[in-house]
Amino acid sequence: MRIEKAALAAALLVSAFAASAQTIKIGFITSYSGLNGNLGPYMERAVRLYLKQHENELGGVKVELLTRDDTGPNPDKARQLAQELVVRDKVNLLAGVIFTPNAMAMAPIASEAKVPFVIMNAGTAVITTRSPYMVRTSFTLWQSSYPLGEWAAKKFKTAYTLVSDFGPGHDSEEAFGKAFSAGGGKIVGSVRAPLQNPDWAAYMQRVKDAKPDALMVFIPAGKTATAVMKNFSELGLDKAGIKLIGPGDITTDEELPNMGDVALGVITVHHYSAAGDRPANKEFVAAWKKEYGQNETPNFVAVGAYDGAAIIVEAIRQQKGKLDPDKTMEIFKQWKSANSPRGPISIDPETRDIVQNEYLREVRKVNGQLANVELETLATALKDPWKELQKKK
Ligand code: PHB
Repeated sequence: MRIEKAALAAALLVSAFAASAQTIKIGFITSYSGLNGNLGPYMERAVRLYLKQHENELGGVKVELLTRDDTGPNPDKARQLAQELVVRDKVNLLAGVIFTPNAMAMAPIASEAKVPFVIMNAGTAVITTRSPYMVRTSFTLWQSSYPLGEWAAKKFKTAYTLVSDFGPGHDSEEAFGKAFSAGGGKIVGSVRAPLQNPDWAAYMQRVKDAKPDALMVFIPAGKTATAVMKNFSELGLDKAGIKLIGPGDITTDEELPNMGDVALGVITVHHYSAAGDRPANKEFVAAWKKEYGQNETPNFVAVGAYDGAAIIVEAIRQQKGKLDPDKTMEIFKQWKSANSPRGPISIDPETRDIVQNEYLREVRKVNGQLANVELETLATALKDPWKELQKKK
């Protein structure tokens, strides 16, 4: 009897050890090099910060990030990396991805292998329709550019649009144009610039010659945002009285110090600003600085990844570390948080896309530093407007 009991205890101990040693592998694909290769580390740091803060919710389950560099907008590379992570490394989840073309290329792999894929940035509306195993914790360009167009129609008679020539740029152009025109504004010109190495001075000259009241720009954040800002000012568009507006990608928080005072007064619409005064955001920014340095600031890429980690932790917690792909997707679809740094958010169970507020912001100086100061909530609990419009068709 004694011996049996001891054996049982030993067996329990072994299984407890096995449970605690359980590991969830996340195939984490993002950009560490190439165009805007500085954005990948924001994503990774945000995931690691969330996991560290919430380790006690994991019930001893370990989370391993298998980080891979897709080298910027490079769908072939992203597809190949995803394939390897799924087939060879047998990851439980895919996550990350800055760029739309990469997310699109990974969709069939998520579907075929039934590996849930948490999109932490890529923002073209159509992406999440490409696989039932995708969920998005970031944004769509329709969410920011549509309310921006509505707002702009009340302020300006004419606008010009200048966007990077790929999925999110096309979405931003269409969403803004539709809302601006519906509100009585007139689009006097629309141009699409190559994603890589465009001649910004030439585009700015064209816009200047057209003399619009406002210029709406979308570029994929990062260093490209600073290049746009510099050319806008060097070509004298600000002095010509043209107002620069756009989704928040053009005034991404971490680039503001590199932009300098030319960014002052730029108006954007976005779901996240590091200067947001919600308590959850203040805590997030403070934790970020504590972890990564006082001069470091999180940005919208970081917040998409932070909430992406939150949704993953919830799936692990509810399933006690044994992830079933379909159950995981069900958990994702029901997920909500009252306390994201960006405000209350949820996943729309029908589309697996994020539902969130959109804020009107202006670049101002706060304590001597440039900041995206939130002025007003333009939309509350906004679903992706593109999908809402598709439903009405
Ligand atoms: C995208 O490729 O979907 C993308 C990239 C950078 C952004 C926004 C969207 O700032």
